[in-house]
Amino acid sequence: MKIAVIGAGYVGLTIGAVFAKFGNTVYIVDVDKYKIDMLTAGEVPIFEPGLTEIFQGAIKEKNVSFTTELSSALDNSQFYFIAVGTPQTEEGEFDLSFVKQVAKEIGKELNTLSSNSEHKIIVIKSTVPPGTNRLVKEMISSQITVPNIRFSVVSNPEFLKEGMAIKDFGSPDRIVIGAESEVARDMMEQLYHPFALKRDKIIFMKPINAELTKVIANSCLATKISFINEAANICDAFDGDILEVREGVCSDSRIGWDFYFPSVGYGGSCFPKDIRGLMSISKMRGYYPKILQSVDEVNNVQKLYLAKKIDKFYSDHGGLSGKTIAIWGLSFKPRTDDIRESAAIFTIQHLLSKGAKVRAYDPKAMKNMEKEFGDKVKFCGSKYEATQGADGLALLTEWDTFKAPDFQELKSMLNIAVIFDGRNLYDPGMVKSLGFTYCGIGRG
Ligand SMILES: NC(=O)c1ccc[n+]([C@@H]2O[C@H](COP(=O)([O-])OP(=O)(O)OC[C@H]3O[C@@H](n4cnc5c(N)ncnc54)[C@H](O)[C@@H]3O)[C@@H](O)[C@H]2O)c1
Repeated sequence: MKIAVIGAGYVGLTIGAVFAKFGNTVYIVDVDKYKIDMLTAGEVPIFEPGLTEIFQGAIKEKNVSFTTELSSALDNSQFYFIAVGTPQTEEGEFDLSFVKQVAKEIGKELNTLSSNSEHKIIVIKSTVPPGTNRLVKEMISSQITVPNIRFSVVSNPEFLKEGMAIKDFGSPDRIVIGAESEVARDMMEQLYHPFALKRDKIIFMKPINAELTKVIANSCLATKISFINEAANICDAFDGDILEVREGVCSDSRIGWDFYFPSVGYGGSCFPKDIRGLMSISKMRGYYPKILQSVDEVNNVQKLYLAKKIDKFYSDHGGLSGKTIAIWGLSFKPRTDDIRESAAIFTIQHLLSKGAKVRAYDPKAMKNMEKEFGDKVKFCGSKYEATQGADGLALLTEWDTFKAPDFQELKSMLNIAVIFDGRNLYDPGMVKSLGFTYCGIGRG
């Protein structure tokens, strides 16, 4: 199959790589020339495990090419995947300007086709509010003046997780396809056939329901996180331990374990904006979503929960101003360099505003965080270097390298032996027995 993927971000690059790996011919398009030049030179502009290797293989097999020219990619393709960003506006709505721009350009391009050209499938991969499929279809149609141009607009939301993106896309739990025409359903089924060889994973539905599925699924996951975080904060109020409580609660099979782990809140480019976008569009339809409002509010508080514990600790140790805090972990989750809405951003902003200095280390996200803070933060070459001469350590992302540090070495580096554990990685009893003060999330 011949596929154009528009948008070379975390989603576009992943789906482009996997489609190419399966033998399709893939054209990846982006307006960002710097990204396209890097990709053409065999370098991947983001960190996602396994992506570079797949692209190197696909380039060798001549299954993938990269361009800033939309028209050349579209001319050669049957499927047009829209994978551009849909960030949040200041009002908390989905910003559809990139999607609309692409829809308009696709419409213009379809207009140049002859009337007997093949049926084109335009697939919305970006996360969009319900109703976008109809909007995109109307925008494309409004550009077309030539008779008998055949096309369908399909909603095919993406559920991948950064850090696990290749596995999640190549071997998904489900493939949701919102398509109205039979020809679109058949073509999508053929395209996804290699993804569902062992069991049928394709769920066909109306486009509006596919759009709703994505934003409601993300809202559900965010709700689980805010729920366990609120439970952790209640445990703190009673000097309880959320991890013991979690065992007692989550071993009920009706509740389960997944996505119930207390932390400094959820971040990333998806949950925060998707939940706010869904709230906003629901209100426009006259429904005020109370649970989602609370989920967002709890998360906003949680992102600064560790920072507030840091404040409290130093108020008894001469104040935070002038202290140096080491930060381990900057990305919003491990195995990615993505820092969008990361708890580290909020925590560092808070520390700097209180007059503290920050020394930071992250295996992959330092370049991105440097763009955010410049020389206001000292970025270090290793996790221990970050702790050198610091007055405490705050752990914000659960990268593997932070899971079992040499605590003796750590203690020898720190002026004040205190660990603020935003991911509950460490055993408080063990850490305290080594002479550290320990502050976790919901652990008393
Ligand atoms: N990142 C995730 O984990 C994830 C998971 C599922 C769904 N999504 C959704 O997928 C979409 C893309 O997310 P992302 O994280 O890959 O975004 P991203 O910001 O990493 O990448 C978007 C890319 O689109 C490009 N772009 C913008 N306008 C363009 C245009 N007119 N033509 C060509 N390229 C253009 C940008 O230059 C950028 O490279 C969003 O709607 C997001 O909500 C993301």
